[in-house]
Amino acid sequence: MIKNIKLSNDVEMPMEGFGVFQITNLAQCKQVVMDAFETGYRLIDTASSYQNEEAVGAAIKEALTRGMVKREELFITTKAYIQEMGYENLKEAFARSLEKLGLEYLDLYLVHMPLGDYYGAWRAMEELYEEGKIRAIGVCNFDSARLMDLCYNVKIRPMVNQIERHPHFQRIEELAVMKKLGIQPQGWAPFAEGLKGMFTEPVLQEVAAKHGKTVAQVILRWEVQQDVIVIPKSVHKERMEENTAIWDFELDSEDMEKIREIDKKCPSMLDCSKPSEIDRLYDYLNNPVLTSL
Ligand SMILES: NC(=O)c1ccc[n+]([C@@H]2O[C@H](COP(=O)([O-])OP(=O)(O)OC[C@H]3O[C@@H](n4cnc5c(N)ncnc54)[C@H](OP(=O)(O)O)[C@@H]3O)[C@@H](O)[C@H]2O)c1
Repeated sequence: MIKNIKLSNDVEMPMEGFGVFQITNLAQCKQVVMDAFETGYRLIDTASSYQNEEAVGAAIKEALTRGMVKREELFITTKAYIQEMGYENLKEAFARSLEKLGLEYLDLYLVHMPLGDYYGAWRAMEELYEEGKIRAIGVCNFDSARLMDLCYNVKIRPMVNQIERHPHFQRIEELAVMKKLGIQPQGWAPFAEGLKGMFTEPVLQEVAAKHGKTVAQVILRWEVQQDVIVIPKSVHKERMEENTAIWDFELDSEDMEKIREIDKKCPSMLDCSKPSEIDRLYDYLNNPVLTSL
C-alpha cells in the first residue's frame, strides 16, 4: 500500500507514482496507465512536452467509468515547458493541458525547467492555485540558489521540487535546503533510466540480496525512507508490481551508509549548469525529439 506524505499546504500526495516520459505511442501509453492503476498507482506524472497527455486523459476516463478509481484518489501531475513560461502563455498552457487530460482540476502543476520567464508563469500558477484549479504548484530542476531566489520573491512558495535523484546523484545538501524552505522533494529517474550501471552497482546488489529484494526495490525504498517521492517508469506490468512492492521492508542504517558512499555527486541525465545543455533544452522547442528531454 503506497503511503502518502503531506505537502506544506496540507495536501496529501502519494510517495510513489508512475512516470510516463518517453512513452510516445498513445495507445501504449493509455494501456500502461491502465496497468499502473490496476497495480495500485494513483499518482501519474506527465508533461506537455511528453506529448501523451491525451493518452493519460483517456486512461483516467476509462478507469473512472469502469469504477477502478475515484477522481479524489488520483493525483495527476503535468508540467509546463519553456515555451509555456510567461503569465499569458502559462494560462493558455494550463487550459490546454487540462483539456487534453479531460480534468476539471489538476493535483500538481510544475514549471518543467528553470528557464524562460518562470516568474511570470509562477504568478499565473499562483492565481490558478488560489482559484482552486490546481491543488499544489511546484517546480522541477531548480538548484538551491534558484529555488531560494524564487521563494524570496513570490507570494506562494513551491510545494514540490522535482529533481534528478538516484544513488549516483544524491544531492544531500540540496535536500536540506528544500527541507528548510518547506519544499517536498520528488525524485525523477530513480534508476537513472538504467544507464551507467545502476542495476549492476555491487553495493545495491549486496543490499538487495540481504533483504531478498531487487536492486530497483532497494533504490525506491532508499528514496522513500528519506522522504523523497519517487516516480519510476516502466511499460512492463510485472516491473510495475516489482516497483510498488517496497512498503514491506526497511533498510537499516548500515544499508543507508553503504549507499551514501556510492554518490558520484554529479548528474547522469540533466546538467542545467552546462551551456550545451541549455542549448539542447531550448533546441527541443524547434525540434522536439522526445527521447532527448
Ligand atoms: N521533471 C523532469 O525534468 C523529468 C525528467 C525526466 C523524467 N521525469 C519523470 O520521472 C519519471 C521516471 O524517470 P525516467 O522514466 O526518465 O527513468 P527511470 O524511472 O529511472 O527509468 C526507467 C527505465 O528503467 C526501466 N525499469 C523500470 N523498472 C525496472 C525494474 N524494476 N527493473 C529493471 N528495469 C526497470 C524501464 O524499462 P521498461 O519501461 O522497459 O520496463 C526504463 O527503461 C519519468 O517517466 C517522468 O515522469 C521528469
